[in-house]
Amino acid sequence: MCGIIGYVGSDGSDATAPDAIDVLLDGLSTLEYRGYDSAGVALANGELDVYKAEGELESLTSTLPTGSLRDPAVGIGHTRWSTHGPPTDTNAHPHTDADERVAIVHNGIIENYRTLRDELEADGVTFESETDTEVVPHLIASYLGSGDGDDRMGERDRGDRERAFRRAIDRLEGSYAIAAVFEGDETVYATRKESPLVLGLEGDSSGEAPERASGYFLASDVPAFIEHTDRVVYLEDEEFVRLDSSGWEVSDSDGNALEKAVQTVDWDADDTGKSGYDHYMLKEIHEQPSSLRQCLRGRVNELQGSVTLEELDAVVEQEFASPVQFVACGTSYHAALYAASLLQQEETPATATIASEFTTDRVPVNDGSLVVGITQSGETADTLRALREANRAGATTLAVTNTVGSSAARAADHALYIRAGPEIGVAATKTFASQQLALLLLSVALTGRSSHDDIQSLRRVPDQVQTILDTSSARAIAAELVDSQAFFFIGRGMHHPVALEGALKFKEITYEHAEGFAAGELKHGPLALVTEDTPVFAIVTGDGGTARKTISNIKEVEARDAPVVVVTDGVSDVERYADHVLRIPETDECSAAVLANVQLQLIAYWVANEMGRSIDKPRNLAKSVTVE
Ligand code: F6R
Repeated sequence: MCGIIGYVGSDGSDATAPDAIDVLLDGLSTLEYRGYDSAGVALANGELDVYKAEGELESLTSTLPTGSLRDPAVGIGHTRWSTHGPPTDTNAHPHTDADERVAIVHNGIIENYRTLRDELEADGVTFESETDTEVVPHLIASYLGSGDGDDRMGERDRGDRERAFRRAIDRLEGSYAIAAVFEGDETVYATRKESPLVLGLEGDSSGEAPERASGYFLASDVPAFIEHTDRVVYLEDEEFVRLDSSGWEVSDSDGNALEKAVQTVDWDADDTGKSGYDHYMLKEIHEQPSSLRQCLRGRVNELQGSVTLEELDAVVEQEFASPVQFVACGTSYHAALYAASLLQQEETPATATIASEFTTDRVPVNDGSLVVGITQSGETADTLRALREANRAGATTLAVTNTVGSSAARAADHALYIRAGPEIGVAATKTFASQQLALLLLSVALTGRSSHDDIQSLRRVPDQVQTILDTSSARAIAAELVDSQAFFFIGRGMHHPVALEGALKFKEITYEHAEGFAAGELKHGPLALVTEDTPVFAIVTGDGGTARKTISNIKEVEARDAPVVVVTDGVSDVERYADHVLRIPETDECSAAVLANVQLQLIAYWVANEMGRSIDKPRNLAKSVTVE
């Protein structure tokens, strides 16, 4: 996930109009929640001036020359969250072709970039960066006609540029919001597919033709320009927009002009970053359908019933003599438990170990081992240490992480990226769901076992999460149970790690006593804690042996008058024993574990919200724990 912005200012007749560079930098600062490992801008002022820098926006600002940037009224900008290639100056956007005739910014993933890059390299193009994005300016440049250079803003050249832009876009597979500026043209061209892009129109247009305004903005999200205007046009997939000082025009992929409604958004500048949600955590919970789609993109083939993890070909082909060992901390450890269950279910031996216990637990590690460190930040000291120990023992190491170029990605032999986008709330939510999905893909790739049905279930997960978000009764249930004494979470099999994660999330942000148990363990001790004041959240899906046994455990707590909340797909008769029901769509057990967790995230959030807790920054905790 990255943030992009574009701006076309007035034609110079308005002396009070802001400078493009100020608009772009301010906009990027509100988009930093979408990524902040590098930033850049391109200003179109006859020549193209491109400035970019690794690091947060401040690094870019400090590299900009002073004084000479006031003239251009047209520009594009980008704040990056790396997916292909580590965060460096070279990998930062905008990217240009070799002659700097075109500069582009991109949010999304170009799935067929390898093929396009090979093709361009065969034609003699030299690439500067490791990004998927850089194919786009080179492709555009390859389609540009020669032009005569004198007709700088002439219709002929302009038509040529737009045609080249469209032809290049036509070659792309994947997701994108892309904005481009060209040398000698004060126009911004942009388009989108499965990545957001919204147009902002500045100035009072009453009495004017709708396509006229005094300034035009393009951005991944409204907060980037809300301080200038609340009048927006939402672009749909495969629509193109052209902005210049004389107006804006949206067209379809065949070039036919489209009539678009101008809407007024009910936001103010204070909403920036949270997209209107009260907390980053709630926003990130709601981002899960899209982050899960990113995780799957280009990795599953429904027709063949197969999974392709290009970056792991070498790992998948290797034979490992000992159990696959997952190591991680906190929420990521719950993902590790889930991953180990996935492999064990396919009769592939696997273990999950808390990273800080890895070196004392003495599971043998040698050159026949595969050690998988799961860490969303990629910076957790305990997990890094475990990976380094494993490297020293000669094991093959793999980092499953959200952060390209992170210490874990660099420490391990291989990296599998979960592509969840930046997570700002301290409590991990969307990164856990993306870890689960990435580990599901990994287990299919390692065991080679999957069917058309399995792949279809995987594909359905993002939409099913959306259904849960649209229909969940978690808020009302939270309001009823908020005054309880303690909260317990139980599950079996794949749902055991989900119960543990449900309890961790709950205690982290509510500060209340919460514990997760394997459902069968309740009767071996914890049942002593169960009273009418301790709600028990139980996860039951399907109607097989595991479900029946968990239902027996539910009856045990029901007999002690504990309020029972079931997270269920409704296949069994568990609802008969429940005081409250959190429904999830029906699917297989592996995918159900992803869905059930979403309901428990919502429960934790709404109880914490009722209690007025500091949800995004819970006391005593930090997002990235870099000490052992
Ligand atoms: C809980 C949480 C932590 C992290 C743990 C590991 O919500 O966020 O338990 O999961 O500190 O962090 P990573 O995954 O960055 O290694």
